[in-house]
Amino acid sequence: MKASHTLVSLLGIGFVLMSGSAFAAVHVDRSAFGVLPDGRPVEKYTLHNSNGMRVGIITYGGIVQSIEVPDARGVVDDVVLGFDDIQEYLDNGNVYFGAIIGRFGNRIKQGRFELEGKAYQVPVNNGPNSLHGGPEGFNTKLWQAKPIEGKDWKGVSLNYVSVDGEMGFPGTLTTTVRYTLNEQNELQIEYTAHTDKPTVVNLTNHSYFNLAGAGNGTIKDQKITIHASHVTPVDAELIPTGTLAPVADTPMDFLHPTAIGKYLGSKSEQLMFAEPKAGGFDFNWVFDRSGQLDAVAVTAFDPASGRRLEMYTTEPGVQFYTGNFLDGSIKGKQGKVYPHWGAFTLEAQHFPDAPNQPSFPSTRLNPGETYKQTTIYKFSTLKG
Ligand code: GLA
Repeated sequence: MKASHTLVSLLGIGFVLMSGSAFAAVHVDRSAFGVLPDGRPVEKYTLHNSNGMRVGIITYGGIVQSIEVPDARGVVDDVVLGFDDIQEYLDNGNVYFGAIIGRFGNRIKQGRFELEGKAYQVPVNNGPNSLHGGPEGFNTKLWQAKPIEGKDWKGVSLNYVSVDGEMGFPGTLTTTVRYTLNEQNELQIEYTAHTDKPTVVNLTNHSYFNLAGAGNGTIKDQKITIHASHVTPVDAELIPTGTLAPVADTPMDFLHPTAIGKYLGSKSEQLMFAEPKAGGFDFNWVFDRSGQLDAVAVTAFDPASGRRLEMYTTEPGVQFYTGNFLDGSIKGKQGKVYPHWGAFTLEAQHFPDAPNQPSFPSTRLNPGETYKQTTIYKFSTLKG
């Protein structure tokens, strides 16, 4: 009698402990992910939760190497483009699969800007312009990693110190990027940075999503909703003109769920600038509400698998890019071919070329200030 009473109490305590500690269900494993040419080892951190979601992060480039999530029938597939081998990341750096982008996401016109009356020239690597922090941006750096955990999440914290003048940018910039996963299938990315001189910063992540699974065809039938009534229109070199243009009555109107393929391939001037000949998306949408993590900013949905992705962000804009430069020549994980329009990116960001556009939200960071951006990619399923 006494014994069974004790057992019941223990079960009771066990139940309380388990229900009060959902965090225990998220695990982080560490494994080797090859070696850089200079001998430095690259590690992979895998975050798993009890819903069958697994996220792989490698310390080279802070790259999101995999996101495995169940579909509406429980079938798990990997929904981001990437490689199995570190050498393939080194050989294909210009696609930025899954990488942390810094110090400055997207383009800076002719790599030039001024701060406090001083002119800076950063290296150009995209025609006449600088793209994604230059040829040796944060996507090419080995980050210092350590596991982290909180009340209902676990993850990995990555740190990188970019010295004064690296890739032409002023100030030593100390950056931390925290990737965490919880039981709500939310991959949260939190970026912080500090500088010792006035500088410009615009950090993002360059994951390429295909909700049907990476390498399983194109994203044309997947639907997207972007809560943005305006974009920043661009010139032929994808530099913003400085104005905001309404999306109404253009192929950029994604205010309601719309198949990405509906206007992909349309010969509008903007789409032809983004992808000469074919006509693709590669623009910055300006959110109607910005800086709010509690309001969904973008929703993507794949009717065939039922997988849904929601993005929440503190950033004022997002670069929605449709893999226009993929041409079927890249073989990714498990030898799968990544076709043209085989994925889309949702790069939460401040607007391209902001250092040269006084009317855009400022990307300037001063000593004593903290740069902070948080973006959540939340996965769920719905019936088609
Ligand atoms: C961003 C740019 C694109 C392209 C991709 C990577 O989305 O805006 O033009 O460079 O990155 O290929």
